[in-house]
Amino acid sequence: MTANELRQKYLEFFQNKGHAIIASASLIPENDPTVLFTTAGMHPLVPYLMGANHPAGKRLVDAQKCVRTDDIDEVGDATHHTFFEMMGNWSLGDYFKEESIAWSWEFLTSAEGLNLDPNLLAVSVFIGDDDAPFDEESYNLWLKVGVPADRIAKLPKKNNWWGPAGQSGPCGPDTEIFYWSGRPEEVPSSFNDDNELWVEIWNNVFMQYFKNTEGNFDLLKQKNVDTGLGLERVTAILNHGDNYQTDLFWPIIQKIEELSKKEYLSDQIITRSMRIIADHVKAAVFIIGDPKGVSPSNVGQGYVVRRLLRRAIVQAGRLGIDIKTNSNWLEKIVEAIINIYAIAYPELVDNKIFIVQAIVQEGEKFQRTLDNGLKEFDKILVENNLVKGSDIFNLFQSYGFPWELSEELALEKGWKIDRSGFEEELAKHQELSRTASAGKFKGGLADNSVETTRLHTAAHLLLAALRQVLGDHVAQKGSNITAERLRFDFSHPEKMTPEQMLKVESLVNEAINQKLKVAFEEIALADAKESGATGVFDSKYAEKVKVYTVGQDNGKEQRNWDNIFSREICGGPHVETLEDLGHFKLIKEEASSAGVRRLKAVLE
Ligand code: ALA
Repeated sequence: MTANELRQKYLEFFQNKGHAIIASASLIPENDPTVLFTTAGMHPLVPYLMGANHPAGKRLVDAQKCVRTDDIDEVGDATHHTFFEMMGNWSLGDYFKEESIAWSWEFLTSAEGLNLDPNLLAVSVFIGDDDAPFDEESYNLWLKVGVPADRIAKLPKKNNWWGPAGQSGPCGPDTEIFYWSGRPEEVPSSFNDDNELWVEIWNNVFMQYFKNTEGNFDLLKQKNVDTGLGLERVTAILNHGDNYQTDLFWPIIQKIEELSKKEYLSDQIITRSMRIIADHVKAAVFIIGDPKGVSPSNVGQGYVVRRLLRRAIVQAGRLGIDIKTNSNWLEKIVEAIINIYAIAYPELVDNKIFIVQAIVQEGEKFQRTLDNGLKEFDKILVENNLVKGSDIFNLFQSYGFPWELSEELALEKGWKIDRSGFEEELAKHQELSRTASAGKFKGGLADNSVETTRLHTAAHLLLAALRQVLGDHVAQKGSNITAERLRFDFSHPEKMTPEQMLKVESLVNEAINQKLKVAFEEIALADAKESGATGVFDSKYAEKVKVYTVGQDNGKEQRNWDNIFSREICGGPHVETLEDLGHFKLIKEEASSAGVRRLKAVLE
């Protein structure tokens, strides 16, 4: 059975049980700053799990594009991916455990469904704790459909609880279904989740709690069912191979075999490299080709794309793909990926030129970095198997060589890297460059410094206002300030309306008219994040960061603001009060790149 057939079969099975088929949502979450990507099918449905009416009804079924980066180090084995599709059937306050369990079992084991051997299946249920009781109902329902007691594990929250997707949100106990991926005649009579041959294929979540920001579990207005069935894994099971031997990956692997002149499964290291390339480039294709597509960059989702591509390129080098004779190797892989998904995800075909261009450009840029950095890495002198922080910093500073890569290369040689030494170097350097630019303001740019500082403060106000008007997905993508004007790039999928522009302008001008104060503190990055500051940029490794706050100073300590308008990690400098900032005006709105808008503004 091909993946396309499986997807269709699943959707139709639940359609016949009264579910409406809905399309996959974008990979880039809407209105949720707590996660970078849609990591599960439930994510775009959160408002409906909380009780809002879904236009398609109370029973839904879909196949959702997902990206998860927390398992990235496991990619390379047979079952983990950064990009995958999650099939899910949903009850929004409609049916609950009984139907959910009975239908999952029916889909997996019946002749109209997947016809899997029930003897190769096992399940787990929530054992109970202080927050919620043992899920006895699910346990009994599994017995009822015929799962023997020895194949039903009772496990704690770590295993059998799902959600919330962010810090707070809907969640609940779940029951998971596993398939024995070893030889059928060796299937154990009892289930033990430590045995990796039991592969989790389906997770049914009984979402009836809401975890609030204090960490407590309240009951939701309604009882929901959220299930996730992995398309890649199930396709693999049905075809008796690993995930990469299914039609979702095989054409990519074949392309990599052709380019590297090596054979899949001929050797563990070769196999791992091939899998990482296939998985990571695929994820990059989907993120860039998403309707709200994001290009490689140094921030947020763009940084993830960049890292995925870099890791893939490093593996291509390891695999011995000769990029001199195969300069278009990345393009060929991208094409193979788009062909696989042309029918299920036509946006990839529509965005093909853009996807190819973004990936090829990024590849070329990184290849140069890599060539230079690798040569330098080999020259490093290592004592006691420890790579000095200053050496890693030099590679980073001079060649743009990512520290993660230094770490990976070091690990291969059995060395460690001095990560905190590297972070210290980086923090020191940032201090230096701040001092240097402050010096510059005092010198030749003295005439302009007042103007640019005012516009710099205006940029903070603008970002805060954009996030108020357009939503928390808005992140700064870059800015450029001259004495005359401010240019500001930010993530937003569509053109701003004239009303939105007026609203942004007036929010900024209100803040100016209130004569809000501006001040900074130097605090730990984690505290800055927790306090809701935006913009993590280059401060990534610094121990302490500077956070600028614009708000009403209540006359007490700086951290006691009455009314915070903006809070942003930034090196400064800024004006001390908005009193003399003048009148803020937007003069232009245009596209900058995919998913990124550009504004120009002045202070009159
Ligand atoms: N939301 C559940 C999961 O991602 C189904 O596993």
